[in-house]
Amino acid sequence: MSVAAKIKTGMAEGSWIRRMFEEGNALKQKYGADNVFDLSLGNPIMEPPEEFRRELKRPAENPEPGMHRYMENAGYAETRAAVAQQLSAETGLGFTATDIVMSSGAAGALNVVLKTVLNPGEEVIVFAPFFVEYLNYVDNQGGTSKIVPTCKDFLPQPGALEAAITPKTRAVIINSPNNPAGVVYSVECLRSLAEVVRKKESQFGTQIYLISDEAYCKIIYDGLKFPQVVLHHPRTIVLTSHSKDLALPGERIGYVAVHPDCDGKKELIDGLIYCNRVLGFVNAPALMQHIVRKLQSVTVSISEYQRKRDFLYSALTRMGYSMVKPQGAFYLFPRSPVEDEVAFVRSLQELRVLVVPGRGFGTPGHFRVSYCVDDHAIEGSVDGFSKVARKYGLPG
Ligand SMILES: Cc1ncc(COP(=O)(O)O)c(C=O)c1O
Repeated sequence: MSVAAKIKTGMAEGSWIRRMFEEGNALKQKYGADNVFDLSLGNPIMEPPEEFRRELKRPAENPEPGMHRYMENAGYAETRAAVAQQLSAETGLGFTATDIVMSSGAAGALNVVLKTVLNPGEEVIVFAPFFVEYLNYVDNQGGTSKIVPTCKDFLPQPGALEAAITPKTRAVIINSPNNPAGVVYSVECLRSLAEVVRKKESQFGTQIYLISDEAYCKIIYDGLKFPQVVLHHPRTIVLTSHSKDLALPGERIGYVAVHPDCDGKKELIDGLIYCNRVLGFVNAPALMQHIVRKLQSVTVSISEYQRKRDFLYSALTRMGYSMVKPQGAFYLFPRSPVEDEVAFVRSLQELRVLVVPGRGFGTPGHFRVSYCVDDHAIEGSVDGFSKVARKYGLPG
């Protein structure tokens, strides 16, 4: 065998998102790209904002000596200071550059954080539905994922969290706005989760981190203000990236921020910097650090995403699909009209509409629709959704 047994198993299992994406590509080859309506992948169709182009030109036209060299593993001090300033303005907390470690996207950040805090076998609580890579990242860093279901509206329940925490619990991952459900956790929800964590910390004499994955925190609708996770527990580690808010997923730029009042902060941050190095990231991409420094308060057009959400949400609810109206991210997560959502997804696929089965996110019986795609794919999918709705007894 040319690969390790564990890798072979992982490759064979694949991921539902990738599988649908690949099957979609095969359909595109067969029927032509315009005749396939691919709502499977969270790869934003939007181009980065105008300000990004301006910043991209600046280092090309006025290169500074040393701007492509190795740097401190934490990243450029100026970029970290810019991130800290923005976070302080958003949260009212006093972040400084030393609280920030620049990372290779949110995915790199998650691996760095988990490697830094986990002892072998320690547990990380993940609420379902979840971004499926969490399970891989926890496993990468020697931990064990413990999946905790949410209720109908996809908000975590304090009682379920309380029952799941054990003396081995080291972290709870919070992902709001959530991929795939699009829900934004309310202040009350966050407050009650943090209270449970503190109660269990004192019961077991342990330290439990809230790891807040804020990849979608700027993609938020209806004028809602993002409820800050970091305000509820000093042992919070925030991570995010500019993959979604600046539409730069290929550029791999993000960061980790530690609550300014976190216990043992110096050691924790030194650990993050060390792990960024030994995981082989070394540092976040230099050019992108130069660029995003000036873009901390810039985002892609949120109203454009909201328009797409509104169109698809109304179309699907009119057909009889039931779902929570998402307030953030760029996904809908409706209930499948038939229990076996893979059968439903396959029926849609026959009409060249691609979505992802909920079991790919630890929540069977649902399916994920990604609307960060062009209007042609969204509008073209409506007919397929309608026909399959009728097939399964909805008005359609
Ligand atoms: C919830 C969530 N976290 C993390 C990531 C990874 O983002 P990045 O591209 O910044 O690594 C994604 C990507 O889709 C995501 O949906």
